[in-house]
Amino acid sequence: MAAPDRHQIEISLRSRISVKLFEHSLEVAAYAEHLAKVHGVDPDWIYAAGLYHDLGKTMDLDAMRRTAEEEAIIFDEDESNSPSLLHSAASAALFRKEHNPPEEFIRAVRGHTTGFAPFGKEEQILYIADFAEPTRPYEECASVRATAERNLRLAALEAVSFKIRFLILRNKTIHPKSIALYNHLLKLESPVVPAAKGG
Ligand SMILES: [Fe+2]
Ligand SMILES: [Fe+2]
Repeated sequence: MAAPDRHQIEISLRSRISVKLFEHSLEVAAYAEHLAKVHGVDPDWIYAAGLYHDLGKTMDLDAMRRTAEEEAIIFDEDESNSPSLLHSAASAALFRKEHNPPEEFIRAVRGHTTGFAPFGKEEQILYIADFAEPTRPYEECASVRATAERNLRLAALEAVSFKIRFLILRNKTIHPKSIALYNHLLKLESPVVPAAKGG
C-alpha cells in the first residue's frame, strides 16, 4: 500500500483542528515516527496515524457515534457516552474513510485512549507517543520515553499504570479495557518494583 502524503494531510489537518491540537498531533506523529524507526514499524503510516489520532475531537458526541458506525468501528456503552473516550473511535473511522490504511494503524488510532489487549507494536507506539510526546508536562513521561527506546511493552505498561493511578487519585472511573490492558502487559513484562518503605 502506498505511503500517505504527510504534507497533504498536515495542510488538511491545519484547517480542521485548533492550533493547540494541531501542535500536539504533530508532536505525537514525530515521536511515533521516531519509535517506529527504532522498533521496525512503518514510519510513514504511524506518522499519519499520529496526525489523525485526535481528529475526532472536532465532533460532537452524536457525530462521533455516527462516524464510527459508518466505518464499522465498534464501541461500547461507556465509550458511547464519553467524548474523551469516543473520539478515538471517530478518529479511527475518519482515518479509514479518508486513507484506507493497513488495519494495524487503524487499531493504533482506535486504541490510543483506553488501549485494548492484545496490543500490537503499532498500538503500543501511538499509545506511548500520545502519553509521552515531548511537550507533555508529567514527570513520568521522561521515564516512559527512556523505557520506550529499548522496550515498547514495558513503556506502555508504565503509561497505563500511571493513567490508572491518576484516575484513582481523582475518584474517576477506569474503563475495563484499560484494566485488561494493564493485566495483559503485566503478564508479559516484569517491571522493577520500588522497595517498600519501612514502618
Ligand atoms: Fe486522544
Ligand atoms: Fe492526543
